[in-house]
Amino acid sequence: MKNREIPVIRKILISWYMNHHRRLPWRETKNPYRIWVSEVMLQQTQVKTVIRYYPKFCRHFPDLKALAKADQQDVLKSWEGLGYYARARNLHQAAKLVIKRYKGKIPNDREAFLKLPGVGDYISAAVLSIAFDRPYPAVDGNVKRVLSRFNQIDAPVNRAVSYGIFKKFSDRLIDTDHPGTFNQAMMELGALICKPKNPTCTSCPIETYCRAQKNGKVAAYPKRIPTRSIPEYRVAIGVVYKNSRVLITKRKPEGLLGGLWEFPGGKIQKNETPESACIREMKEEVSLSIEIDSYLTRVKHAYTHFRILIDVFLCRYVSGAVKLNQATDYRWVKIKEINNYPFPKANLKFIPLLNRVEHIKNKKG
Ligand code: ADE
Repeated sequence: MKNREIPVIRKILISWYMNHHRRLPWRETKNPYRIWVSEVMLQQTQVKTVIRYYPKFCRHFPDLKALAKADQQDVLKSWEGLGYYARARNLHQAAKLVIKRYKGKIPNDREAFLKLPGVGDYISAAVLSIAFDRPYPAVDGNVKRVLSRFNQIDAPVNRAVSYGIFKKFSDRLIDTDHPGTFNQAMMELGALICKPKNPTCTSCPIETYCRAQKNGKVAAYPKRIPTRSIPEYRVAIGVVYKNSRVLITKRKPEGLLGGLWEFPGGKIQKNETPESACIREMKEEVSLSIEIDSYLTRVKHAYTHFRILIDVFLCRYVSGAVKLNQATDYRWVKIKEINNYPFPKANLKFIPLLNRVEHIKNKKG
């Protein structure tokens, strides 16, 4: 890209965005809190999913104060199913800190904003540019793909060390007069035109400036380094019934799915059946003796670095008092109360079946 082309490219991108962007709820506001919420959700989740969560979250926590005051369980419940729950825990913590340190005003200073939990390079650039017109390029996966093709950047997009290269290029390109619009234009170009598969280059406003397109190499970009195939674990889970209630446990506050509730269970070991794993895990994790009544279902779930295949059993409490190994809390709850607690998606996949089981049980009397 030649320096003299930069102002032209900026103009084209801004005008393309003005005419073609999707009307999304977070684009109807300049409210920094709401923009922050949207960017946190969008950082690891697709627009089509965020659209289902964002309006509800904003209704439930309309401003920073409401979020700061909320109970963490309530925040996690609103995030239930979105994944990467550390985002919700961090946003909640950050809201509390903004109230305490900045009298509830989100700092528009990068240094200060970056100090808040969960706020990294991307979130700070996206929020500060969109809400406060600060001149920071927001470089996410979509933007890296656009840049990689646009300038035939060979740095693999899935390596952290490449980030600086893409960032440096964006620093040159960004329209400092309209940084928020420019950043969103780049994201939108990645989402609508410069798509991962089958990009529609003929509709691209900057097609004539794109190096990969000029050289007939669009399909060869972005470059990625091959990743290891992700492992699959087998897991057994028990829904333990005792006097019409079932046992749920709360995960420790940090780490994967931190603070969420789940049905007890664990990994199936080699040479172990799912049934015996379920019985063993109940002993180890909650110190209960149980019997298996029936097999409920199998669910699959994919996390970023592994997949799990879960066999779910309906169990009967036999003896023992709950003693927790890893979990931090437990409850014996009625099936209809399960909805009050935040659960991971893998559990949400079979919870509706428990309502059906309950219905059948009640009919039988
Ligand atoms: N992805 C990340 N930020 C976004 C935004 N503001 N609009 C649409 N997609 C996005």
